[in-house]
Amino acid sequence: MNITLLPGDGIGPEITAVTKALLQAVCSRHGLRLAMEEAPMGGAAVAACGEPLPEETLRRCRTADAVLLAAIGDPQYDRLPRWQRPESGLLALRAGLNLFANLRPVKVIPSLLGASSLKPEVVSGVDLLVVRELTGGIYFGQPKGRIGSGAEERAFNTMTYGAMEVDRIAAMAFRLASQRRHQLCSVDKANVLDVSQLWRERVERMASAYPGVTVEHMYVDNAAMQLIRQPRRFDVLLTGNLFGDILSDEAAMLSGSIGLLPSASLGDGGPGLFEPVHGSAPDIAGQDRANPLAMVLSAAMMLRLGLGQEDAATALETAVDQVLKAGFRTPDMMARGCVAVGCRAMGDHLLAALDAPVEDMDASGTSTGSSQAAP
Ligand code: IPM
Ligand code: MG
Repeated sequence: MNITLLPGDGIGPEITAVTKALLQAVCSRHGLRLAMEEAPMGGAAVAACGEPLPEETLRRCRTADAVLLAAIGDPQYDRLPRWQRPESGLLALRAGLNLFANLRPVKVIPSLLGASSLKPEVVSGVDLLVVRELTGGIYFGQPKGRIGSGAEERAFNTMTYGAMEVDRIAAMAFRLASQRRHQLCSVDKANVLDVSQLWRERVERMASAYPGVTVEHMYVDNAAMQLIRQPRRFDVLLTGNLFGDILSDEAAMLSGSIGLLPSASLGDGGPGLFEPVHGSAPDIAGQDRANPLAMVLSAAMMLRLGLGQEDAATALETAVDQVLKAGFRTPDMMARGCVAVGCRAMGDHLLAALDAPVEDMDASGTSTGSSQAAP
């Protein structure tokens, strides 16, 4: 299996180093051969080649079995023209690989309940999946641009979806709901937007093909409210590109740390793109303070969804569970009674957890020499 690794910017290279070592370890334990090749992307690519997604990087992503991205973005590139900014490279990569479906699971881990800014009784038991359309909507709609100047200047973007675009993401969401708790909530703004009316009609139409799945439609403003009021009520949340961008950040905070959330972007059979939901955190880059867990969990999603390696995926997820149960925390998740560790040390504990029999660590914590304290 060939993986293209995109370390990107900020904390990207640090969390990539940890994830790479873990992938190597888990693959050798499961008898898998994994070749990992790094390629420049984002600000790192702007610095090296003058553009955020060089032709050669896109080519290597297209020919890989899966792509694993750390994070992109750095304030030093904010003043560049839009096409040259790191974010444009990410959008071009999504479009270039036709990754129309972005899956962002949010599961609240019991040992991190206290880390959420919401009350534990509100977030406990949350297990939802945001399914966000990723290559259409207002992000890519034409026409867009700016005309005129001074007080006469206008800027515009177009929010547009075709029936087929809605159908393929809706079908994906229905399939995923059938494998989960059979509840689909489609989020739109159909009381105002024509594009949302079409969205709602297409989702409604598809519902008859999935009689086992209960469908509801919710306006995006209400969804934003329900997400923090009663987040347990959600199973699969289906939504367009812009609403999904916003709601997935909101949903991420339910778990207490955005540093824990993985994502997968999938298309029609080509290589998928797997990346943490968090950004490049330039403020802590190079200080060994980054939380590598979201990228490690993204690597697990890659093994499962992109490469069909369920056992290796579960092994990585179990290692993450183990280090959290053992009380190890990077600064973003630190709580009383826990053991503060940096990015590299977290990687070492994860490697140790891969080898430790699960029961041993649960019983005594001695296999990593750790405290069992939980927040
Ligand atoms: C995300 C990010 C991107 C988006 C940015 C970096 C272009 O916020 O993946 O959610 O808006 O899609
Ligand atoms: Mg976002």
